[in-house]
Amino acid sequence: MITRSILLQMAASRKMEHFSSHNRLAKGFAMRFIASEKMEDVTLPVRRLNSKGLSVSLDYLGEGVTTEEESEEVVQTYLKLFKLIKQENLDSNVSVKLTALGLELSESIAERNLRRLLDAAGPDQFVRIDMEGSALTDSTLNCFYQLWNGANAYRNVGVVIQSYLHRSADDIEKLIKVGARVRLCKGAYKEGPDVAFQHKSEVDSSFVSLMKRLLKDGNYPGIATHDMAMVNATQEFATQNSIGNDKYEFQMLYGVRRELQLELARKGYRIRIYTPFGDHWYPYTMRRLAERPANLRFALASILRG
Ligand code: FDA
Repeated sequence: MITRSILLQMAASRKMEHFSSHNRLAKGFAMRFIASEKMEDVTLPVRRLNSKGLSVSLDYLGEGVTTEEESEEVVQTYLKLFKLIKQENLDSNVSVKLTALGLELSESIAERNLRRLLDAAGPDQFVRIDMEGSALTDSTLNCFYQLWNGANAYRNVGVVIQSYLHRSADDIEKLIKVGARVRLCKGAYKEGPDVAFQHKSEVDSSFVSLMKRLLKDGNYPGIATHDMAMVNATQEFATQNSIGNDKYEFQMLYGVRRELQLELARKGYRIRIYTPFGDHWYPYTMRRLAERPANLRFALASILRG
């Protein structure tokens, strides 16, 4: 029996990445969660989502770069992406992982690169910093605050908080205080009991209490989940407190619970689809497998179909 923990360990393996990236069948499975390998091909899937009333957040898959040259390639891709979004008039903002901008090389490289993205994005284009493993939470939030509080006081940037971390209630209060835009999710990395809740019931109950704080006092939060219980709790809390649908948005992942995405849009809720593209799809896809081990059956079936 392959557990979530083993799948998450495999997600971090360079050897497995090398093997899978060259395997046609693994790639076939990954494409369920990835809009396209090339940036030129991402316009069509985004248009399709937009035409159904779904907003998008585009993410260029490039986490964990190990050289400055690689981080420069990521920056250049995002610069082109901003132009594409504008030219094609897409309803999309962007998401970025700081390890794709060089965070594991140094905080200052990642911050400098992020600043370049925010300058190029301009005030009308929003950039969400994804949250990665807990070893990077402090440095990710530091980068965010440097830019938020710095001389330029960037306001076109937001962060992500994970409900499985013990520290998140404190982080949320600080972010609410400065008026930052937060995406709330459960958290997708392998974390120990010293830093994170280990049981679904604890992660869920933390999610609900953080969601309430954000809906009540936060700045246009993104409630990122496919869990019907979390969606219902959000809708109920919003109704009870007369919080309009325009004060927050639901967010879901490309290729996950598509019917629910459409149903929420049809009912008048705002919903944004996190839409990754690029050929560095292995770690992202493995985290999706770990979230729902039943996905393994689809993966194996597609491999057996050949
Ligand atoms: P849960 O895992 O309890 O799943 C509820 C139900 O949703 C499942 O029973 C299943 O039906 C369906 N489902 C969930 N995941 C599925 C999958 N992969 N395939 C098929 N069905 C699935 N994490 C992080 O650490 N940092 C980040 O920056 C982000 N960013 C982010 C953005 C957005 C828009 C979303 C939706 C999620 C993230 N995440 C993330 C991932 C998040 O932390 C979490 O791992 C997943 O969303 C799964 O948690 P759920 O809330 O969906 O609940």
